[in-house]
Amino acid sequence: MSAPSIETIVSLAKRRGFVYPSSEIYGGLGSAWDYGPLGVELANNVRQAWWRWMVYERDDIEGLDSSIILNRLVWKYSGHEDTFSDPLVDCRECQSRFRADKLKEEYRQMKMAQFQQQVAVFGWAFLEEFPCPNCGKVNWTGVRPFNLMFRTHVGATAEDDPDALVYLRPETAQGIFINFHNVLNTSRRKLPFGVAQIGKSFRNEVTPGNFIFRTREFEQMEMEYFVRPGEDEQAHQEWIDACHQWFQKIGISADNLRLYEQPKEELAHYAKRTVDIQYRFFPEREDEERNWDELMGIANRTDFDLKTHSKKPEKDGKRINENSTEDLSYFDEQTKQRFYPYVIEPAAGVNRTVLALLMDAYTEKTNDKGETRVILRLHHSMAPIKVAVLPLAKNKPEIVGMAKAIKRSLQPIVRAVYDDTGGIGKLYARQDEIGTPFCVTVDHQSLEDEAVTVRDRDTWEQERIKVADLPTYLLQRFSPGA
Ligand code: GAP
Repeated sequence: MSAPSIETIVSLAKRRGFVYPSSEIYGGLGSAWDYGPLGVELANNVRQAWWRWMVYERDDIEGLDSSIILNRLVWKYSGHEDTFSDPLVDCRECQSRFRADKLKEEYRQMKMAQFQQQVAVFGWAFLEEFPCPNCGKVNWTGVRPFNLMFRTHVGATAEDDPDALVYLRPETAQGIFINFHNVLNTSRRKLPFGVAQIGKSFRNEVTPGNFIFRTREFEQMEMEYFVRPGEDEQAHQEWIDACHQWFQKIGISADNLRLYEQPKEELAHYAKRTVDIQYRFFPEREDEERNWDELMGIANRTDFDLKTHSKKPEKDGKRINENSTEDLSYFDEQTKQRFYPYVIEPAAGVNRTVLALLMDAYTEKTNDKGETRVILRLHHSMAPIKVAVLPLAKNKPEIVGMAKAIKRSLQPIVRAVYDDTGGIGKLYARQDEIGTPFCVTVDHQSLEDEAVTVRDRDTWEQERIKVADLPTYLLQRFSPGA
């Protein structure tokens, strides 16, 4: 079982402290979310698992943490100033605003291929035949591009000073490309090798929504893998397969994952081929095709980025880049050839991974009394709290003291908490709902036999374990990587 809809997760997330609506005391801010005590742990677990898998467990990847605000020229030459936009259209009758390309979702009766064909043949003009999904009238403005980059100004200058204009990065990738030579020279790497980065990105999305699925501020985990031209297609396929496996390794069911080959007309300006890993984010939608949306993209960016940021290459007798001071080509010592490496880019979202994990782990179970309980069957490595230590009687100082001492003894090895804020049934239910794999209960008998009860979240089975054996026992029970 997994969550029947994102809505189920929204209420659980707020109730239990995973994610709160941001700025709530001032009426909120559309599609901005704050990660609470459990959400921050879950997101940290995602980042750490990705970094461990991507950087530590391989021999060919380095890490980087580049600035969020870069020189504006980075975005000029990357193509984002000109092309990183959504097509916007307004209804003149009711003033509703839509992303023209997303209107296709409103016209459910239309198949995707048919829609794309219409755009290809008629451009956006064909919209004239379709009514506004809000008011039902047909009175559209023309379709115009809306650039998604957030603008701001650096320094104490006038707001409209074009020399002070900068953008918040819409992807972490460009910080890697402009540092290609720095990393290459300082790490003395040879192709193939990659550079990984985790960090915030910002897009002024026209239609954010669906909880943390699409927000204006979000976090990316990206890696740019540099290869020799000609070796790109094989490396691309290897990364697609590896990323597909990784999501399963952190506990996402293969049934809720699928690969989506982007058709030519959807490809970004830099991409030769892109395959998305999609998750079943919208299981409640009747049309099965609309159940799925992007969790991550794996693109073959060719040599576009390194070339465009280089002073060297020329097109029609003119420099492509008139401002760069570097040539980001690579000299191969073996073949004595100089060329621009191709780039394979696995790019995932931290927030969408958190959402997919929560949805996938969501389960309901009925207890002996016929009550339905929520259990979050998170992979052990993802669980925000690994062990909860619970005293059976909170008015017994000896039991409380022993429980607190056990919690402290576990602290150095796992994320453990102590909780005495309810009866034992309630405490178990609370830990199940937040995905804690094990509850350790200290009872009257514990004072005599120096043993505790360990309860398993998934089976509700209980075992009696000696306190002295508890750390070893728990470490054995945790799945690898927890
Ligand atoms: N450098 C390539 C790139 O940025 P992308 O497909 O636009 O590719 C990569 O973004 C991932 O970042 C997506 O698969 C998604 O997980 C996440 N992402 C993108 N836009 C997002 C948004 N507005 N809110 C949340 N996550 C987003």
